[in-house]
Amino acid sequence: MFEKITVVGAGNVGATAAQRIAEKHLARTVVMVDVAEGIPQGKALDQWQSGPVEGFDARVVGANDYELAAGSELFVVTAGIARKPGMSRDDLVKTNAGIVRSVGAEIKRVAPNAIVIVVSNPLDAMCFAMREATGFPKERVIGMAGVLDTARYRTFLADALQVSVEDIQAMVLGGHGDTMVPLVSYTTVSGIPVTQLLSAEVLDPIVDRARNGGAEIVAHLKTGSAYYAPSAAAVQMVEAIVLDKKRVLPCSAWLEGEFGLTGVYCGVPCVLGRKGLERILTITLTDAERTALHASAEAVRSIQAIV
Ligand code: NAI
Ligand code: 2OP
Repeated sequence: MFEKITVVGAGNVGATAAQRIAEKHLARTVVMVDVAEGIPQGKALDQWQSGPVEGFDARVVGANDYELAAGSELFVVTAGIARKPGMSRDDLVKTNAGIVRSVGAEIKRVAPNAIVIVVSNPLDAMCFAMREATGFPKERVIGMAGVLDTARYRTFLADALQVSVEDIQAMVLGGHGDTMVPLVSYTTVSGIPVTQLLSAEVLDPIVDRARNGGAEIVAHLKTGSAYYAPSAAAVQMVEAIVLDKKRVLPCSAWLEGEFGLTGVYCGVPCVLGRKGLERILTITLTDAERTALHASAEAVRSIQAIV
């Protein structure tokens, strides 16, 4: 258990993530910080009072500044505006880059040794903005997107195959956008290659649906974007770090030559443990997957350039 974890942005993703962190006993104190007056305080008080029912002792507190967050070992940054219908993730870039930079400056001030998990969109470019603002090493600025995109892919596969989601092993790499790269060659059902169980006619639409998973939910909600699966995905990364689990998860990481890519944040297989990003696994890809990964990284690079 960590002493203190701070979630920045007490909106849908942030507040749900804070509650999950408390319920999973991952920190003694969970802090929520948001610019909206009263929101982090009210939600924190409400969550704290769920402790006796849910059986957690974490103290959940909320604030509009960073004093309570001082010394946090880990930050989950969800501050920003969410995608609205008809709006691409990339439309969010300018507004959210300014927000993420200001959050990064505060994190550096109050918790210079913290690990930061970025969730704000457009995800990979926001990781870049956070790293620029904090000056933290690449091991301590990681993005959440691949765990979510993979969860969507696994959900749809399990449904098509009528098997447990637990038995689907898969990974979605690349940037968090329309160019993301579900690795069909590494998708297995308890070790059985998925291509032995599903034809391309069934598999291709599943890959497409996973790729558009965020937009499908925005189209339903109309006033916001997904948050139950995104918060669960972010907290899976938190748990891997707090418990030093060395989980292998697809995360957005700063690349310095891995997969032939340099100077860009992109989703790749990462080992997460107490030090944050402990290792990138440079696996062999098919030619098509490698081409798609490079195209996805170039799409991120163009947004990164705006940041
Ligand atoms: P939301 O609108 O419910 O919450 C965002 C919160 O950020 C609001 O409460 C707002 O007051 C706060 N905020 C704005 N500026 C701030 C600042 N400077 N400091 C602190 N707080 C600030 O949005 P939601 O649904 O929680 O999404 C949050 C972000 O996460 C969005 O950018 C969204 O696109 C992104 N997202 C990313 C996913 C991923 O896979 N990486 C998945 C889902 C959402
Ligand atoms: C999602 O994929 C909005 O990026 C967010 O749901």
